[in-house]
Amino acid sequence: MTIPQNRCVSVFTRLLSLAFVVALAVSTESARATAEDLSPLEHLGKQIFFDKNLSNPVGQACASCHAPEVGFTGPDSEINLKTGIYPGAAPGRYGNRKPPSAAYAAFSPKREFDQKEETWAGGQFWDGRMDDLVAQAKGPFLNPLEMNNASAADVVAKVRESNYRGLFEKVYGAKALNAADADEAFDLMARAIAAYESSREVNSFSSKYDAFLARETTLTAQELRGLALFAGKANCTACHPHQAAADGTPPLFTDFTYDNVGAPRNAGNPFYRADPAVNPDGAKYRDLGLGGFLNDKTQHGKVKVPTLRNVAKKPHPQFVKSYLHNGTFKSLKDVVRFYNRRDKTPDAFDPPDVEENVNREELGKLGLTDAEEDDVVAFLETLSDGFVAPQPAATEPEFPAIAPSASTRGDHFKGARDVIRVVRFRRVVEEASRSSDTRQR
Ligand code: HEC
Ligand code: HEC
Repeated sequence: MTIPQNRCVSVFTRLLSLAFVVALAVSTESARATAEDLSPLEHLGKQIFFDKNLSNPVGQACASCHAPEVGFTGPDSEINLKTGIYPGAAPGRYGNRKPPSAAYAAFSPKREFDQKEETWAGGQFWDGRMDDLVAQAKGPFLNPLEMNNASAADVVAKVRESNYRGLFEKVYGAKALNAADADEAFDLMARAIAAYESSREVNSFSSKYDAFLARETTLTAQELRGLALFAGKANCTACHPHQAAADGTPPLFTDFTYDNVGAPRNAGNPFYRADPAVNPDGAKYRDLGLGGFLNDKTQHGKVKVPTLRNVAKKPHPQFVKSYLHNGTFKSLKDVVRFYNRRDKTPDAFDPPDVEENVNREELGKLGLTDAEEDDVVAFLETLSDGFVAPQPAATEPEFPAIAPSASTRGDHFKGARDVIRVVRFRRVVEEASRSSDTRQR
């Protein structure tokens, strides 16, 4: 689905990022946000995000596939286990991919190719086909495989009937929902959603690891070993940076670049059996990711590096989450084992869905022991938001010594890729401040 770019919209999103950076710079304490901290615009976005009446038939909200208790991804343990892919509002319809986290997505810059690093970075969705959260938020309402509304006018009509109509009019003006052009009101809805997704409630930076960085708590011995491996021998930080950026942005655990980690097919993906009108390739379907969207063979199989914040967040220990863009793995241990042994014991894994461009330099043969795999998982478990320190730390926590990375290319990228992101972020902030006089509608 193509949605025309609206200049005003992108300025708005940049301003959101600007507000974010400023807010974070001003106070790290305020990063622990609660619902009362939402602005009226963010609050409106939240109402829309959780409203199950905005689908056809009714019953599906954004939150049905992006729920806070699991880190704004899919909240149904059984679906995660069986398919990893969520049904749409209309019976029997499925998309082709797992819902990524809608939290921390606000930080993804517009997708751009970096000539020097020869890599794409930024954008929304696994394949980066949308520029920003405002453009993204319009997609699900009209996508027949998701919320399945016939038109923007239909969605706006439902908001007109909602119990937050008053809030909408307070935020955007008394006539906002009655304009002859429904696209305008639809656009305002998308902006409110983007504001909520950019809020500190959604991006709370409140994990145990954040508390550790703020020297408010200590990590266990195992978590510390996991961190040292993550940033060293296991080379995870080459794509999932664990350190704050130079501009003060706390670590996002993604550099928003694209890679093919060689994800095996997910045989449970219902998309293989979808109507030929939706999936003409049937069981032979391959998800080409960014390469499919760009129609560029050199990018086949590459998808955007997801944040690792909240990867372990779940309502109870037995709850199952699915991982990778097609939901093929069902535990973090499985993911880490795959990264560690993919090229050492290839027979233990199904072949990659897309053979081209599999990254064999930075992952696949990490040489971790079974216990070290567990240590990395223990570290990933410190990235769940909502951590409450049991007691003030007795001793001053220390950052562990980090062993040099196993991969030389990883070393190279560790600095360079981080730099791309920081430079981009600065540019966004500068542009936003330059155009701030055009901000008011
Ligand atoms: C039926 C499940 C479903 C519903 C409902 C849904 N999403 Fe998603 N969402 C997904 C899937 C699947 C993807 C990834 C699609 C892709 O990459 O092609 C996604 C991607 C996203 C992303 C991109 C994140 C990133 O890092 O790239 C955001 C943000 C998002 N959704 C927000 C929303 C909002 C806002 C709504 C409501 C207007 C919504 N979603 C409704 C399943 C859903
Ligand atoms: C070369 C870049 C790169 C390196 C190195 C890397 N990752 Fe990833 N990671 C990715 C990409 C790209 C994806 C998405 C792949 C997909 O969905 O097919 C991903 C996905 C994941 C996921 C799944 C997240 C989700 O929401 O489904 C986890 C967990 C993960 N990585 C952890 C790690 C750990 C732990 C390490 C180190 C052992 C690591 N990664 C090293 C690029 C990388």
